[in-house]
Amino acid sequence: MIHYVGVATLKSLLHNIGIENFILKLVQYLEDDFAAWHSFEKSARVAAHSSSGVIELMPISNAEFYGFKYVNGHPANTQKGLPTVMAFGALAAVETGLPVLLSEMTILTALRTAATSAMTAKLLTIPKNKTHALIGCGAQSEFQALAMKAVLGLTDLRVFDIDNAATQKLLSNLQNHGFTLTACTSVEQCIEGASVITTATAAKTRAKILTKDMVKAGTHINGIGGDCPDKTELEKELLDKCTLIAVEFEPQSRIEGETQQNTNLPVVELAHLLKHPHNHKDTDITLFDSVGFALEDFSALRLIYDLVKNDQNYKLDLIATPQNPKDLFSMINLLVS
Ligand SMILES: NC(=O)c1ccc[n+]([C@@H]2O[C@H](COP(=O)([O-])OP(=O)(O)OC[C@H]3O[C@@H](n4cnc5c(N)ncnc54)[C@H](O)[C@@H]3O)[C@@H](O)[C@H]2O)c1
Repeated sequence: MIHYVGVATLKSLLHNIGIENFILKLVQYLEDDFAAWHSFEKSARVAAHSSSGVIELMPISNAEFYGFKYVNGHPANTQKGLPTVMAFGALAAVETGLPVLLSEMTILTALRTAATSAMTAKLLTIPKNKTHALIGCGAQSEFQALAMKAVLGLTDLRVFDIDNAATQKLLSNLQNHGFTLTACTSVEQCIEGASVITTATAAKTRAKILTKDMVKAGTHINGIGGDCPDKTELEKELLDKCTLIAVEFEPQSRIEGETQQNTNLPVVELAHLLKHPHNHKDTDITLFDSVGFALEDFSALRLIYDLVKNDQNYKLDLIATPQNPKDLFSMINLLVS
């Protein structure tokens, strides 16, 4: 029997711990794992692209655990009643290969993406005020808002989406979470004076949500929606204006991130930034060119496993482990009395 965390179980774990506390715990797990960067066997994800989206496998391992996530990205899915991003993942013991955890990861992906964004924002900026501008009010958005609040204290939340129903959904979801909420009617109004701008839009195109002239000095951009070949959110010239561009794993980010638009631009990996902190200046424009890396899922799976590993309730008979390991057949031999 392996541990199993489905949607209902994750919901009850989050209810007990609190969403912001969970995010803060996850930031610690992320910092520990990114600090141990060189101990991981890393590879860019294996992606199967189609005209409607992408399906990916994201594996990673260290001496103790092997983890992987199955995840998709289909921007038109919401018109079919399905989320843009859906995922599940597993953790296995490297010593034996025995899977120890199977987990839902659609919600967990939103949590880990938000926790990584907030961890990175903390590394790259000292907010000049409490304002977070969030563009794109879809499935990821509330998680991003809560993470920036938990880690950086950004409680003045300004939001914009081309879909007013998505904006209203966010306002309703976050009304009792300690934010001052403002719905904006344009990107320009939304980003005015903000310390951090998050772009979390979904369109399989080279979008220009933010352009060079829109972003002022002293701003950190948290770009999470440009995460596939030919799927970007920022104007190419804005990238030239950035003082520092942080990425998760350069070989993957060069293909999938904003810097696919100019592969000559220098980037700094998060693991390096954790060891060599950025010397922040008020004139900086910093960018987290987030695409999502397997290590973030590994950290999230590790946290979930630590939370449930001593609880006998969350079990699933996914793996056949016969009493006599050489006698697999007797597990299914219906004629045996
Ligand atoms: N970097 C990562 O690790 C990571 C992880 C998860 C998701 N993502 C990406 O983040 C993005 C958001 O994901 P989601 O699950 O919230 O998607 P979603 O489809 O639920 O929401 C996207 C929202 O963006 C809005 N939008 C689209 N174009 C816009 C524009 N020009 N201006 C303003 N709003 C616009 C849509 O109306 C929608 O409400 C996707 O592109 C997804 O692939 C990245």
